[in-house]
This record gives sequence, C-alpha cells and structure tokens, in this order.
Amino acid sequence: MVKRGFGKELNKDYALILKTWPYEKELHTKTALEIQKFNAKSFIEFGCGSGEATAFIHKYNPGMKILATDVDPAVISNAKHFLKSKNIFFKVADALKFRTDKGYDVVSSSHVIHNFGRAKQSKMLKTMYSALRTGGLFIIKDKILPDDPVKRERLWQRQIDRFKLYDEYGRPDLKKKMLEHEAKDKSPDVILIETPFRKMLESVGFRDVKILLRKDRDVILTARKTFDVIVKRSKIEGRGVFAARDFKKGEIVVKWDVSHRLTAKDVKRLSIDEKKYVAYMDHKYILMQPPARYVNHSCDANTYAKDFCDVAKRDIKKGEEITGDYSEDETPGFEMKCNCRSRNCKGIIRRKT
Ligand SMILES: C[S@@+](CC[C@H](N)C(=O)[O-])C[C@H]1O[C@@H](n2cnc3c(N)ncnc32)[C@H](O)[C@@H]1O
Ligand SMILES: [Zn+2]
Repeated sequence: MVKRGFGKELNKDYALILKTWPYEKELHTKTALEIQKFNAKSFIEFGCGSGEATAFIHKYNPGMKILATDVDPAVISNAKHFLKSKNIFFKVADALKFRTDKGYDVVSSSHVIHNFGRAKQSKMLKTMYSALRTGGLFIIKDKILPDDPVKRERLWQRQIDRFKLYDEYGRPDLKKKMLEHEAKDKSPDVILIETPFRKMLESVGFRDVKILLRKDRDVILTARKTFDVIVKRSKIEGRGVFAARDFKKGEIVVKWDVSHRLTAKDVKRLSIDEKKYVAYMDHKYILMQPPARYVNHSCDANTYAKDFCDVAKRDIKKGEEITGDYSEDETPGFEMKCNCRSRNCKGIIRRKT
C-alpha cells in the first residue's frame, strides 16, 4: 500500500492533517507553474517525502527530468510506488551532504528546511546551491514568518486554531502531536524569519531572493544563482572579465578551475593562442579555464591570487573589469608590454621574483 504523508511521517492521518492546511493545492500548483515558466529541463528535489509536491511539479512539467531525493530509503521506496513516470528518478540522498557534478536547472524542497536547526539549514542551502547551475532557479515552499512579531504571533494563532478540528474528529492525540511540532518550529534556533533567512540565502550565494506567495505562515520563495562575472571585450586587451555584481573587499571573485594540468611537453604543443592561458604555479603548468583565463593584468589590479582564486583587494563595483597582477606569475622569463592605462602603469611587466 502506498502511504501518503509529510516526509518521514508516512501516516494514515494525512487526509485529516490536510484539513488544517487549506492551501496545499494552491501552493503546489503555483510552484509547479513557476517552474513551467522557467522552461526547465532538469530538476532536483531534496526531501521528496511521499512525493505530493513532486507529483504536482511533474503534472505541469511532464517533459522535465525530475530527480526526487530523500534521506530515508523507506520513504523513497514508498514514493516510487506513488510516482511512476519515465521522467521521475529517485535517489536516497542526504540533503546535508549530497554533491553532484551536474548543475540542475531547478532545485527545490517543500517543508524540509524548517525542520532543521540553524547549522543544518545552512548546510542544506549549500547543498542546494551547489546542485544548481549558474543562472538556475531555487524554489522552496516552507514556513517562513514575517519580520513583524505581532503579525507572526497572529499567524501562529490562526494555525493553532485550525487544530481544534482534531478535537471534533476525536483525535486529541493528533492535536497534541501537531502542537508539539508547532512549538519546535518556533524555537529560536529553528524558526525561519524573512529577513534573517534572506541573509542566510545571500551568504550562501543566492541572489534575487523573492517571496512569490504568502499563505499565512507558508511561503513560496524563489532565488537565483546568478553569474558573478561575465566575459566580454576589454579596453586592456582582447577579452576580459567584468563584475556582474558588487563585490566586497576580501570576497572571492573568480574561482579557478585548475583541473587541466599540463606537462612541459603538452605546453610546447599548444597553439600560440592557447599558450596565453597557461599558468605556472608550484612548478606545475595549468591550462586556465574560463572565466579565470580571461582575467587581464593591471598595474592597479583590483584582485590578488590566493588559494586558486581571484580575491577582491578592495570593494569592486558591478561593471568594473576584474584585473590581476601578472608579476605574481611564476613562469620563468615572463615579460609583457602593458596596456592597463592605470596611472602607475609600469610599462613592462616582469615576473616579480
Ligand atoms: C590570461 S589572458 C587574458 C585574457 C585575454 N585578454 C584574452 O582575450 O584572451 C593573457 C593575455 O592577455 C593579454 N593581456 C592581459 N593583460 C594585459 C595588459 N595589461 N596589457 C596588455 N596585454 C594584456 C596578454 O596578451 C596575455 O598574454
Ligand atoms: Zn600597466
């Protein structure tokens, strides 16, 4: 038998619980339609439970490949019976640890984050961020409360009042259970409040955080993984890297992909054009990848290289060209005629040491 229910609690009380949650369908439908607008091809859900939300998402996005994950193998094997489609795949995965190389168009979760304490919430958001492709859509449904404590209390009370229904059905046990859950959601290390939650999302890297819909305590929230930098023509030389947002001093602007190691022989075989992108570090040759390979030199650079990243030396404004200091390059005999146009331009750039 297929059991319906919230996450781990696959219980026969689901139908009764839904009576105290009047917005279920509206929230699911709105989420599914938002994903439809995005025209996504791939989707990953964390904590799919018995797949109620997943079913709606599939219904409105039948061509999209869905990977539904949950930490509990029993939950997954149950959901497999409930949701059968060539485009829905299942995986037992821990939302706090899961890593994938694939960048999904959309990452999502429904009523999962609010069950964790602060540290785990942040971990889960990091998992979701890393599973999302640049430009992708983050969309969640969860209990996220308004900043105003008076409003907050009113919304709690409205929900508590709904639980009176369980008395009418002769289920004080269920009422007690739900009230306990409510109390837990309200504890300071757990409660999700709009502004602090927005800050948490932004610190993980999400941008354009928006509340799409609020229904009492429930919201549909969307955010994006945006491009930090773009590559375009530069006044210094050829193409360059430009800030697509503001950066604070000390922030990582560009992470290098250093997976393309080369031997001295490989380097000799490269075209003149490709040779421009070879960096020599710790006696190793690396063929730099985009976008890092397009960082030009400036004698007044706004980043420095640290741990295979370009880090902001000062605050950088959206639109500024990202520049590094090529004299830090370790390539023996490196020399370049500089066109950086900064006031303190050295003219000829050579290896520092
Ligand atoms: C790592 S690439 C940088 C991206 C390059 N502009 C491009 O379009 O491919 C290194 C090459 O950029 C050019 N370059 C970077 N900074 C420069 C500068 N300040 N003045 C002149 N040429 C520069 C040099 O030709 C160098 O070999
Ligand atoms: Zn210069």
